[in-house]
Order: sequence, then C-alpha cells, then structure tokens
Amino acid sequence: MRVVTTVQQMRDTRTAWAKSNQVGFVPTMGYLHEGHLSLVRHARAENELLVVSIFVNPTQFAPHEDLELYPRDVPRDLQLLEAAGVDIVFIPTPDEIYPPGFVTYVDPTGPLAEQAEGARRPGHFRGVATVVLKLFQVVQPHQAYFGQKDAQQAAVISRMIADFHLPLRLHVLPIIREADGLAMSSRNVYLGSEERIAATTLYRALQAGRLAFETRRADGPLAVIKAMTAVVASEPHAVLDYAEVRNPNSFLPLESLHAPAVLLIAVRIGSVRLIDNFLLRADGSWDVGIAVT
Ligand code: PAF
Repeated sequence: MRVVTTVQQMRDTRTAWAKSNQVGFVPTMGYLHEGHLSLVRHARAENELLVVSIFVNPTQFAPHEDLELYPRDVPRDLQLLEAAGVDIVFIPTPDEIYPPGFVTYVDPTGPLAEQAEGARRPGHFRGVATVVLKLFQVVQPHQAYFGQKDAQQAAVISRMIADFHLPLRLHVLPIIREADGLAMSSRNVYLGSEERIAATTLYRALQAGRLAFETRRADGPLAVIKAMTAVVASEPHAVLDYAEVRNPNSFLPLESLHAPAVLLIAVRIGSVRLIDNFLLRADGSWDVGIAVT
C-alpha cells in the first residue's frame, strides 16, 4: 500500500495505471468504521486498483460545526486499509486541495441540495460536491463507492455525475448497523454511555415509520412522520430535528405513499446530531441496512 499526500503524487501514481479500466475509489473523512470498510471490501472485489482518500473537508462544515473536533486517527485508518488490501491512500492537506487563491465551487441547487439536510446545513452540499469533483478529477476512478447512510449526499453526487457527464459509475451501498440498529458513523464516538443507548431511537423511529408506511398507506406521509416523531418524543435524551418522507432521487416530499421513497430522520442526542434512513426501492423492496453481529 502506498500513501500519497500531494495532488501531483496522486496524478503520477494514477498515470502509471493509465491502461487499467478498473480503478475504484472510496472517498472518506477517515476515522474508519465497518461502514467504510464494507465500501472498501466491495470496491476491492470489483477493481484492479483501489484508491481510498482520507480528507476532513473544511468546506462542508459550517463555522459552528465540528470541523476541529472531528475524530481523526490516521495510523489506525492506515492499518485497516492495509489489511483490506487497498493500493493507494490519498491523504492531502487542506492547502493541497484548497490552495491560496481557490475560488471555484460546485454549487448544487434546488430541492435536492436545499431541503432536508441541505436546509439544516446551508452550504454543506456545495462543500461536498466541490471536494468530490476535485477528488474525482485527481483520482480519475471508473467506479466510486458511497454509503446509503448519507442518502442525500449520494443523490447529490449521482446528479453531479450526470450533470457533468463524468465517466464513472456510482455505487451506493447499504448502511452498516451495530447489532442494536444504530447506523455506524464516525460521530458515534461522541456519544456517552446513556446517549449511546438513546441513539437507537433513530432506528426504532424508522421501524415505526416503515410499519406505518406499510399498514396505513391511505393516511399518506403524515402517518409515517407522526409514527417516527412519536418514537423520538418518547426518548428523553432525544430531540427531533426532522422526520420526513421524500423521493430518494429528487428529494421532493412525497404527497402519497408509494415507491420509491426514503424515510429520513435527524435527531440530536445531547450535543450529537445523528442522521439515518430507510430506503424503499422502486421495485417495492426495502433497504434498511445490514446489522453486524
Ligand atoms: O461522506 C463523507 O465522508 C464525505 O462527505 C465525503 C464524501 C468523503 C466528502 O468529503
């Protein structure tokens, strides 16, 4: 495994693989967990060359968010990536990605980027789309792997790939969950022991939402939202940010309950903000993630 830290080194390494048409890429912000490793394993199985990036992207954090506190452990990440058979780890510095004088951003617009997470985190998807396009430009992957956990991010990236005619295939893989249903996230490390128990609220709320979706179709999206909201309201440590039912591609709210749909939830547990979702695919099957045992 080779670790590269500059754009030039990454480009030179990539040039050496110019003939390969199987270059896979997993972008991450590090502090890796099973969710990331499941992307890495899939990508490893499907590609000749596998690149993983570790970059805590400053432009996707608002000034009041947790950029400085965001958990980091590069030595541990490198051990995990080496064990997973990764070929190249790209770990640029912020100055390498945003050199002095940088002014050009990718700014996704409309409900896809401005509702749900986009409404609560203005500018977030602008930062995500900008860094992901820059990473795609440098790594030039044929296939890129993202997690369903960040459903709206995956939809924004999918749209950007189409809008900019990017020659790569996007894979969005299921959420990986703890045995009790909590979706794996680097931010789970912030949870104290009582908060960790309370954090299962998100999964329980989504289960209640799914049940309402299946049994109370005629009552429409409000029945699903009410079912999710009631579960969160019963947990003293939890404060609901939003519970919504949207189209998973456009992120427009659904007016009636039909596939495809995504049940979205964002909750504050103490000072930690967590998001989760269940996806109802167009074929009527649910993707609720995979629990590790
Ligand atoms: O999902 C993440 O970890 C980040 O948003 C990403 C895609 C690596 C861009 O910084």
